[in-house]
Amino acid sequence: MYFGEYDLPELADDEVRVSVKAAAINPFDWKLRQGAMKLITGRRFPKAMGTDFAGIVEAVGGKVTNVRAGDEVFGTVDFKKSGAFSEAINVDAHHLARKPPQLSFSEAAALPIAAMTAWVAIIDRVHAGAGSRIFINGCSGAVGAFAVQLAISKKAHVSGTCGPASMGSAKAAGVDPIFGYSDRQAYAQNGRFDAIFDTLGTLDVSDSLSMLKPKGVFVDINPTPGKMLRGVLSRRYKLAFATQGIQHLPAIAELAGNGTLRPTIGLEAPFSDALSVIADAENGRRSSGKIVLAF
Ligand SMILES: NC(=O)c1ccc[n+]([C@@H]2O[C@H](COP(=O)([O-])OP(=O)(O)OC[C@H]3O[C@@H](n4cnc5c(N)ncnc54)[C@H](OP(=O)(O)O)[C@@H]3O)[C@@H](O)[C@H]2O)c1
Repeated sequence: MYFGEYDLPELADDEVRVSVKAAAINPFDWKLRQGAMKLITGRRFPKAMGTDFAGIVEAVGGKVTNVRAGDEVFGTVDFKKSGAFSEAINVDAHHLARKPPQLSFSEAAALPIAAMTAWVAIIDRVHAGAGSRIFINGCSGAVGAFAVQLAISKKAHVSGTCGPASMGSAKAAGVDPIFGYSDRQAYAQNGRFDAIFDTLGTLDVSDSLSMLKPKGVFVDINPTPGKMLRGVLSRRYKLAFATQGIQHLPAIAELAGNGTLRPTIGLEAPFSDALSVIADAENGRRSSGKIVLAF
Protein backbone atom coordinates (compact mmCIF):
# COMPACT_ATOMS: atom_id res chain seq x y z
CA MET A 1 0.00 0.00 0.00
CA TYR A 2 1.17 3.52 -0.68
CA PHE A 3 -0.28 7.03 -0.95
CA GLY A 4 -0.52 8.41 -4.48
CA GLU A 5 -1.65 11.63 -6.15
CA TYR A 6 -4.12 11.50 -9.01
CA ASP A 7 -6.14 14.06 -10.95
CA LEU A 8 -9.86 13.25 -10.90
CA PRO A 9 -11.35 12.85 -14.38
CA GLU A 10 -13.97 15.32 -15.55
CA LEU A 11 -17.33 14.77 -13.85
CA ALA A 12 -19.76 12.66 -15.93
CA ASP A 13 -23.41 13.74 -16.27
CA ASP A 14 -24.61 11.17 -13.71
CA GLU A 15 -21.77 11.69 -11.23
CA VAL A 16 -21.25 13.70 -8.06
CA ARG A 17 -17.91 15.05 -6.81
CA VAL A 18 -17.60 14.59 -3.07
CA SER A 19 -15.05 16.08 -0.70
CA VAL A 20 -14.50 13.09 1.60
CA LYS A 21 -14.70 13.76 5.35
CA ALA A 22 -14.62 10.13 6.57
CA ALA A 23 -14.08 6.71 4.99
CA ALA A 24 -14.70 3.41 6.80
CA ILE A 25 -12.54 0.29 6.50
CA ASN A 26 -14.21 -3.01 5.55
CA PRO A 27 -12.81 -6.56 5.27
CA PHE A 28 -13.49 -6.09 1.52
CA ASP A 29 -10.59 -3.59 1.41
CA TRP A 30 -7.91 -6.04 2.46
CA LYS A 31 -9.52 -8.95 0.63
CA LEU A 32 -9.21 -6.80 -2.52
CA ARG A 33 -5.56 -6.12 -1.63
CA GLN A 34 -4.91 -9.84 -1.18
CA GLY A 35 -6.41 -10.57 -4.61
CA ALA A 36 -9.27 -12.54 -3.05
CA MET A 37 -11.90 -10.34 -4.78
CA LYS A 38 -10.45 -10.60 -8.29
CA LEU A 39 -13.64 -12.09 -9.74
CA ILE A 40 -15.35 -8.78 -8.85
CA THR A 41 -12.51 -6.30 -9.10
CA GLY A 42 -10.32 -7.77 -11.86
CA ARG A 43 -6.70 -8.85 -11.65
CA ARG A 44 -4.84 -5.62 -12.39
CA PHE A 45 -2.91 -3.75 -9.74
CA PRO A 46 -2.29 -1.08 -8.52
CA LYS A 47 -5.83 -0.38 -7.41
CA ALA A 48 -7.39 2.43 -5.43
CA MET A 49 -8.76 1.33 -2.03
CA GLY A 50 -11.85 2.04 0.04
CA THR A 51 -15.59 1.82 -0.63
CA ASP A 52 -17.60 3.48 2.21
CA PHE A 53 -17.47 7.26 2.55
CA ALA A 54 -19.26 10.32 3.90
CA GLY A 55 -18.57 13.88 2.81
CA ILE A 56 -19.80 17.10 1.24
CA VAL A 57 -20.95 17.47 -2.37
CA GLU A 58 -18.60 19.80 -4.27
CA ALA A 59 -20.23 19.61 -7.70
CA VAL A 60 -22.83 17.59 -9.60
CA GLY A 61 -23.04 16.38 -13.20
CA GLY A 62 -25.65 17.77 -15.63
CA LYS A 63 -28.23 15.00 -15.07
CA VAL A 64 -28.00 14.71 -11.28
CA THR A 65 -31.17 15.71 -9.43
CA ASN A 66 -31.03 13.94 -6.03
CA VAL A 67 -28.30 16.12 -4.42
CA ARG A 68 -26.64 19.49 -4.97
CA ALA A 69 -23.41 21.27 -4.02
CA GLY A 70 -23.07 21.69 -0.26
CA ASP A 71 -25.22 18.64 0.67
CA GLU A 72 -23.82 16.22 3.25
CA VAL A 73 -23.93 12.70 1.80
CA PHE A 74 -22.77 9.14 2.41
CA GLY A 75 -22.48 6.07 0.22
CA THR A 76 -20.17 3.72 -1.64
CA VAL A 77 -17.94 4.12 -4.64
CA ASP A 78 -18.27 1.49 -7.39
CA PHE A 79 -17.11 -1.82 -5.83
CA LYS A 80 -15.16 -2.61 -9.02
CA LYS A 81 -13.16 0.62 -8.87
CA SER A 82 -12.96 1.37 -5.12
CA GLY A 83 -11.08 4.58 -4.22
CA ALA A 84 -12.98 6.05 -1.25
CA PHE A 85 -9.72 6.44 0.72
CA SER A 86 -9.19 9.76 -1.09
CA GLU A 87 -9.58 13.43 -0.34
CA ALA A 88 -12.08 13.76 -3.20
CA ILE A 89 -13.99 11.27 -5.36
CA ASN A 90 -16.34 11.16 -8.35
CA VAL A 91 -19.30 8.90 -7.48
CA ASP A 92 -22.33 7.62 -9.37
CA ALA A 93 -25.26 9.70 -8.06
CA HIS A 94 -27.21 6.46 -7.47
CA HIS A 95 -24.61 5.20 -5.00
CA LEU A 96 -25.13 7.90 -2.37
CA ALA A 97 -27.86 9.38 -0.17
CA ARG A 98 -28.17 12.39 2.12
CA LYS A 99 -26.40 11.94 5.44
CA PRO A 100 -28.81 11.91 8.39
CA PRO A 101 -28.09 15.20 10.22
CA GLN A 102 -28.04 13.36 13.57
CA LEU A 103 -24.95 11.39 12.51
CA SER A 104 -21.33 12.55 12.33
CA PHE A 105 -19.45 11.97 9.07
CA SER A 106 -17.62 9.03 10.69
CA GLU A 107 -20.86 7.41 11.86
CA ALA A 108 -22.41 7.84 8.41
CA ALA A 109 -19.32 6.37 6.71
CA ALA A 110 -19.63 3.32 9.00
CA LEU A 111 -23.06 2.46 7.54
CA PRO A 112 -23.12 1.57 3.82
CA ILE A 113 -21.62 -1.88 3.13
CA ALA A 114 -22.31 -3.35 6.58
CA ALA A 115 -25.86 -2.01 6.89
CA MET A 116 -26.78 -2.85 3.28
CA THR A 117 -25.51 -6.41 3.74
CA ALA A 118 -27.42 -6.79 7.00
CA TRP A 119 -30.53 -5.43 5.24
CA VAL A 120 -30.30 -7.92 2.37
CA ALA A 121 -29.77 -10.79 4.84
CA ILE A 122 -32.36 -9.94 7.51
CA ILE A 123 -35.08 -8.19 5.49
CA ASP A 124 -34.74 -9.57 1.93
CA ARG A 125 -33.59 -13.15 2.61
CA VAL A 126 -34.89 -13.99 6.13
CA HIS A 127 -38.03 -11.78 6.00
CA ALA A 128 -37.66 -11.23 9.75
CA GLY A 129 -40.93 -10.49 11.52
CA ALA A 130 -42.58 -10.56 14.93
CA GLY A 131 -41.64 -13.75 16.73
CA SER A 132 -39.03 -14.94 14.18
CA ARG A 133 -36.21 -16.82 15.93
CA ILE A 134 -32.89 -15.81 14.40
CA PHE A 135 -29.42 -17.07 15.29
CA ILE A 136 -26.55 -14.75 14.27
CA ASN A 137 -23.04 -16.17 14.20
CA GLY A 138 -20.77 -13.16 14.80
CA CYS A 139 -23.41 -10.81 16.23
CA SER A 140 -20.79 -8.23 17.29
CA GLY A 141 -19.10 -7.36 13.97
CA ALA A 142 -20.23 -4.48 11.78
CA VAL A 143 -22.65 -6.59 9.72
CA GLY A 144 -23.69 -8.67 12.74
CA ALA A 145 -24.50 -5.67 14.93
CA PHE A 146 -26.66 -4.04 12.22
CA ALA A 147 -28.36 -7.41 11.62
CA VAL A 148 -29.22 -7.59 15.34
CA GLN A 149 -30.62 -4.03 15.28
CA LEU A 150 -32.71 -4.67 12.14
CA ALA A 151 -34.05 -8.02 13.41
CA ILE A 152 -34.99 -6.59 16.80
CA SER A 153 -36.66 -3.60 15.10
CA LYS A 154 -38.87 -6.19 13.36
CA LYS A 155 -39.64 -7.73 16.78
CA ALA A 156 -37.68 -10.89 16.03
CA HIS A 157 -35.95 -12.81 18.82
CA VAL A 158 -32.17 -12.89 18.33
CA SER A 159 -29.55 -15.14 19.86
CA GLY A 160 -26.01 -15.53 18.64
CA THR A 161 -22.28 -15.88 19.12
CA CYS A 162 -19.47 -13.39 19.66
CA GLY A 163 -16.03 -13.13 21.27
CA PRO A 164 -15.58 -12.63 25.03
CA ALA A 165 -14.86 -8.88 24.75
CA SER A 166 -18.12 -8.32 22.85
CA MET A 167 -20.53 -10.10 25.20
CA GLY A 168 -21.49 -6.88 27.04
CA SER A 169 -22.36 -4.90 23.92
CA ALA A 170 -24.24 -7.87 22.41
CA LYS A 171 -26.29 -8.19 25.59
CA ALA A 172 -27.04 -4.46 25.60
CA ALA A 173 -28.17 -4.75 21.97
CA GLY A 174 -30.74 -7.38 23.01
CA VAL A 175 -29.05 -10.65 21.95
CA ASP A 176 -30.27 -13.40 24.28
CA PRO A 177 -28.81 -15.87 24.93
CA ILE A 178 -25.24 -15.15 23.81
CA PHE A 179 -22.75 -17.96 23.24
CA GLY A 180 -19.02 -18.23 22.67
CA TYR A 181 -17.91 -19.40 19.23
CA SER A 182 -17.00 -22.86 20.54
CA ASP A 183 -20.31 -23.46 22.42
CA ARG A 184 -21.75 -25.43 19.49
CA GLN A 185 -23.42 -27.98 21.73
CA ALA A 186 -25.14 -25.30 23.82
CA TYR A 187 -26.49 -23.17 20.99
CA ALA A 188 -27.52 -26.19 18.90
CA GLN A 189 -29.78 -27.22 21.80
CA ASN A 190 -31.31 -23.75 22.10
CA GLY A 191 -34.43 -24.64 20.10
CA ARG A 192 -35.09 -24.53 16.38
CA PHE A 193 -34.57 -21.31 14.39
CA ASP A 194 -36.37 -19.66 11.49
CA ALA A 195 -33.00 -18.44 10.26
CA ILE A 196 -29.29 -18.72 10.88
CA PHE A 197 -27.23 -15.77 9.67
CA ASP A 198 -23.54 -16.71 9.53
CA THR A 199 -21.72 -13.37 9.24
CA LEU A 200 -18.31 -14.99 9.70
CA GLY A 201 -18.56 -17.93 7.30
CA THR A 202 -17.28 -20.28 10.00
CA LEU A 203 -20.33 -22.53 10.56
CA ASP A 204 -20.58 -25.95 8.95
CA VAL A 205 -23.63 -25.50 6.72
CA SER A 206 -24.79 -29.14 6.57
CA ASP A 207 -24.36 -29.52 10.31
CA SER A 208 -26.21 -26.23 11.02
CA LEU A 209 -29.30 -27.19 9.01
CA SER A 210 -30.36 -29.39 11.96
CA MET A 211 -30.75 -26.18 14.04
CA LEU A 212 -33.43 -24.86 11.65
CA LYS A 213 -37.20 -25.29 11.60
CA PRO A 214 -38.43 -27.22 8.51
CA LYS A 215 -38.79 -24.03 6.44
CA GLY A 216 -35.85 -22.23 8.08
CA VAL A 217 -33.06 -20.67 5.99
CA PHE A 218 -29.30 -20.41 6.38
CA VAL A 219 -27.88 -17.08 5.13
CA ASP A 220 -24.19 -16.72 4.31
CA ILE A 221 -22.22 -13.64 3.20
CA ASN A 222 -18.81 -15.24 2.68
CA PRO A 223 -19.07 -16.97 -0.70
CA THR A 224 -16.74 -19.62 -2.10
CA PRO A 225 -17.26 -21.32 -5.50
CA GLY A 226 -18.74 -24.37 -3.67
CA LYS A 227 -21.11 -22.18 -1.65
CA MET A 228 -22.21 -20.33 -4.81
CA LEU A 229 -23.22 -23.67 -6.31
CA ARG A 230 -25.01 -24.64 -3.11
CA GLY A 231 -26.86 -21.30 -3.24
CA VAL A 232 -28.22 -22.21 -6.68
CA LEU A 233 -29.19 -25.76 -5.75
CA SER A 234 -30.62 -25.38 -2.25
CA ARG A 235 -33.78 -23.53 -1.22
CA ARG A 236 -32.67 -23.38 2.41
CA TYR A 237 -29.17 -21.98 1.81
CA LYS A 238 -28.98 -18.37 0.63
CA LEU A 239 -26.11 -16.03 -0.12
CA ALA A 240 -26.47 -12.31 0.53
CA PHE A 241 -24.41 -9.47 -0.91
CA ALA A 242 -24.14 -5.74 -0.26
CA THR A 243 -26.02 -3.74 -2.86
CA GLN A 244 -24.83 -0.43 -4.26
CA GLY A 245 -26.69 2.59 -3.08
CA ILE A 246 -30.09 3.77 -4.14
CA GLN A 247 -31.85 0.44 -3.51
CA HIS A 248 -31.31 0.54 0.27
CA LEU A 249 -29.35 3.65 1.29
CA PRO A 250 -32.30 6.08 1.70
CA ALA A 251 -34.10 3.59 4.00
CA ILE A 252 -30.88 3.01 5.92
CA ALA A 253 -30.42 6.77 6.30
CA GLU A 254 -33.95 7.03 7.71
CA LEU A 255 -33.38 4.19 10.20
CA ALA A 256 -30.04 5.67 11.29
CA GLY A 257 -31.69 9.09 11.65
CA ASN A 258 -34.37 7.72 13.99
CA GLY A 259 -31.91 5.65 16.03
CA THR A 260 -32.96 2.18 14.84
CA LEU A 261 -29.52 1.65 13.25
CA ARG A 262 -26.71 2.76 15.53
CA PRO A 263 -23.20 2.65 14.03
CA THR A 264 -20.40 2.17 16.55
CA ILE A 265 -16.98 3.70 15.92
CA GLY A 266 -14.13 1.63 17.38
CA LEU A 267 -11.30 3.80 16.09
CA GLU A 268 -11.19 7.13 14.26
CA ALA A 269 -7.72 7.64 12.78
CA PRO A 270 -6.35 10.48 10.63
CA PHE A 271 -6.02 9.67 6.92
CA SER A 272 -2.25 10.09 7.28
CA ASP A 273 -2.24 6.88 9.42
CA ALA A 274 -4.19 4.89 6.81
CA LEU A 275 -1.43 2.45 5.85
CA SER A 276 -0.71 1.23 9.39
CA VAL A 277 -4.39 1.24 10.42
CA ILE A 278 -5.44 -0.84 7.39
CA ALA A 279 -2.51 -3.22 7.90
CA ASP A 280 -3.44 -3.69 11.59
CA ALA A 281 -7.05 -4.45 10.67
CA GLU A 282 -5.88 -6.87 7.97
CA ASN A 283 -3.70 -8.62 10.54
CA GLY A 284 -6.71 -9.29 12.80
CA ARG A 285 -6.61 -6.32 15.21
CA ARG A 286 -9.95 -6.47 17.06
CA SER A 287 -11.88 -3.25 17.48
CA SER A 288 -15.09 -2.65 19.39
CA GLY A 289 -16.60 -0.92 16.36
CA LYS A 290 -15.92 0.32 12.89
CA ILE A 291 -12.48 1.68 11.99
CA VAL A 292 -12.81 5.03 10.22
CA LEU A 293 -10.28 7.28 8.49
CA ALA A 294 -10.99 10.96 9.09
CA PHE A 295 -9.97 13.66 6.59
N1 LIG B 1 -21.27 -10.64 0.98
C1 LIG B 1 -21.06 -9.35 1.20
O1 LIG B 1 -21.48 -8.51 0.41
C2 LIG B 1 -20.33 -8.92 2.44
C3 LIG B 1 -20.49 -7.62 2.91
C4 LIG B 1 -19.87 -7.24 4.08
C5 LIG B 1 -19.04 -8.15 4.75
N2 LIG B 1 -18.87 -9.39 4.22
C6 LIG B 1 -17.99 -10.35 4.93
O2 LIG B 1 -18.58 -10.63 6.19
C7 LIG B 1 -17.58 -10.79 7.18
C8 LIG B 1 -17.87 -9.85 8.36
O3 LIG B 1 -17.73 -8.51 7.91
P1 LIG B 1 -17.81 -7.31 8.97
O4 LIG B 1 -17.71 -6.05 8.20
O5 LIG B 1 -18.95 -7.51 9.90
O6 LIG B 1 -16.45 -7.56 9.76
P2 LIG B 1 -16.01 -6.99 11.20
O7 LIG B 1 -16.73 -5.74 11.53
O8 LIG B 1 -14.52 -6.99 11.17
O9 LIG B 1 -16.53 -8.07 12.23
C9 LIG B 1 -16.04 -9.33 12.27
C10 LIG B 1 -16.22 -9.84 13.69
O10 LIG B 1 -15.74 -11.14 13.68
C11 LIG B 1 -15.30 -11.48 14.96
N3 LIG B 1 -14.09 -12.27 14.78
C12 LIG B 1 -14.00 -13.60 15.00
N4 LIG B 1 -12.77 -14.04 14.74
C13 LIG B 1 -12.04 -12.96 14.33
C14 LIG B 1 -10.67 -12.76 13.95
N5 LIG B 1 -9.80 -13.79 13.90
N6 LIG B 1 -10.27 -11.51 13.62
C15 LIG B 1 -11.12 -10.47 13.66
N7 LIG B 1 -12.42 -10.60 14.02
C16 LIG B 1 -12.87 -11.83 14.35
C17 LIG B 1 -15.07 -10.20 15.73
O11 LIG B 1 -16.00 -10.18 16.79
P3 LIG B 1 -15.55 -10.64 18.26
O12 LIG B 1 -14.39 -9.78 18.66
O13 LIG B 1 -16.76 -10.47 19.10
O14 LIG B 1 -15.12 -12.08 18.10
C18 LIG B 1 -15.39 -9.11 14.72
O15 LIG B 1 -16.11 -8.09 15.28
C19 LIG B 1 -16.24 -10.55 6.47
O16 LIG B 1 -15.69 -11.79 6.10
C20 LIG B 1 -16.63 -9.77 5.23
O17 LIG B 1 -15.72 -9.95 4.17
C21 LIG B 1 -19.50 -9.81 3.10
